[in-house]
Amino acid sequence: MAKVKTQFVCQSCGSAAPKWLGRCPDCGAWNSYQEETCAAEPAAARGWSGQAAATHPVRLAEIEAATGHPIPIGIGELDRVLGGGLIPGSMVLLGGDPGIGKSTIALQALAHLAGNGHRGLYATGEESAAQVKRRALRLGVDPEQSVFILTENTVDAVARAIQDLNPTICIIDSIQTIYSSALTSAPGTVSQLREVTTQLLYLTKARPMATLLIGHVTKDGTLAGPKVLEHMVDTVLYFEGERGHQYRLLRAVKNRFGSTNELGVFEMTGEGLREVSNPSELFLAERPAHAAGSVVIAPLEGTRPMLVELQALVSHSGLANPRRTVIGVEGARVGLLIAVLERITGLALHDQDVFVNVAGGLKIAEPASDLGIVTAIASSFRNRPVPERTVVIGEVGLTGEVRAVVGLETRMTEAHKLGFRRAIVPKGQAGIKGPKGMELTTAGNVAEALECLS
Ligand code: TYD
Ligand code: MG
Repeated sequence: MAKVKTQFVCQSCGSAAPKWLGRCPDCGAWNSYQEETCAAEPAAARGWSGQAAATHPVRLAEIEAATGHPIPIGIGELDRVLGGGLIPGSMVLLGGDPGIGKSTIALQALAHLAGNGHRGLYATGEESAAQVKRRALRLGVDPEQSVFILTENTVDAVARAIQDLNPTICIIDSIQTIYSSALTSAPGTVSQLREVTTQLLYLTKARPMATLLIGHVTKDGTLAGPKVLEHMVDTVLYFEGERGHQYRLLRAVKNRFGSTNELGVFEMTGEGLREVSNPSELFLAERPAHAAGSVVIAPLEGTRPMLVELQALVSHSGLANPRRTVIGVEGARVGLLIAVLERITGLALHDQDVFVNVAGGLKIAEPASDLGIVTAIASSFRNRPVPERTVVIGEVGLTGEVRAVVGLETRMTEAHKLGFRRAIVPKGQAGIKGPKGMELTTAGNVAEALECLS
């Protein structure tokens, strides 16, 4: 018998080495190497392609255009994030924390499609058929609809079901629990994820079916398994929300068929997820009205803009060294900004305690929120609220100048979508056109910014 060949694979980025390494030389992750069996042959070589007919080059004109049209799911917020609906032959990856509602939204999407005469397959390696049925009934799914449940863990079983049923949509819940018996490594390892996804990709591309993969995320919020998965699929969606809150945000971080700027807002109810058609009201409602020290900023998370409330409290200190307590932003940065405020605008903060907090427990490491921090501190010190529906964007330099930020348009689009109508932006970016209905106020330095806010 041939010797089984193994290699060590980084579970974070997918790079391989013949020996175990404590730290991945490619991505820098510690203790991420695991021993895995090498696949004997790539999936395609084992007759998985199923694309025999398409292996010769074809003219653009001969390609059936029909496969390019999205099939609307019927859940508006989801369709918008997807770019109109599901494209036949495409693969979507949906990531999110446990319990956020990935399985729920998948099942609801399936039910909506089934209601429009499409056939749907839900392959789960996590729950029993009875559990899925109970959830489906709770969501109000008609049990007579063409929703088929498969409780299997092997990709071969899923492939057989796809070939038998020919569904319009196939949901895999979750990709980490499905494995290929051709490999001996455990489900969820890089080799398995790559192998299973490749096989499903071939099946998907060969027929007018869309596949939705549900993926777990790691503690730091990225999809478990390497970036490999994100590269293979057409669309990557993230489902996020705060613990204890019933609101859920759906964003696309990659989309070959649409924009990645769309944001879908849902509310988790007793009967599943409900679309929130007016998110601006929702987000404004969470903020205290006319409160001094509260400012809305628009940090970018990777490529994703997000509107966040930043709060500052300035109060007289009896201490020789006044307190500078900061949660959610960098302490050193706040210290620097306080110094700039004192020097440039003459604000006497030397005998004041300053507290800065990012509402909702978020962490912001972006200089583009500098102007927001400065504004919040000044607003609290002067006890003057920042005008309503105003978002503050800009980096602050040591001489008090307001510097340009990347992705200003994206940030403003997000703010506009959430109901904001005025943006304080860096003077250097005055040429950038904001979304229709957004009033732009430019500030060249901190003093100017504070002036136009009071
Ligand atoms: P689920 O879709 O199982 O999350 P995931 O697949 O992302 O792990 O959602 C589970 C949570 O949602 C669970 O805590 C209960 C809650 N929930 C509701 O509040 N209402 C509902 O109708 C359903 C189905 C779930
Ligand atoms: Mg689930």
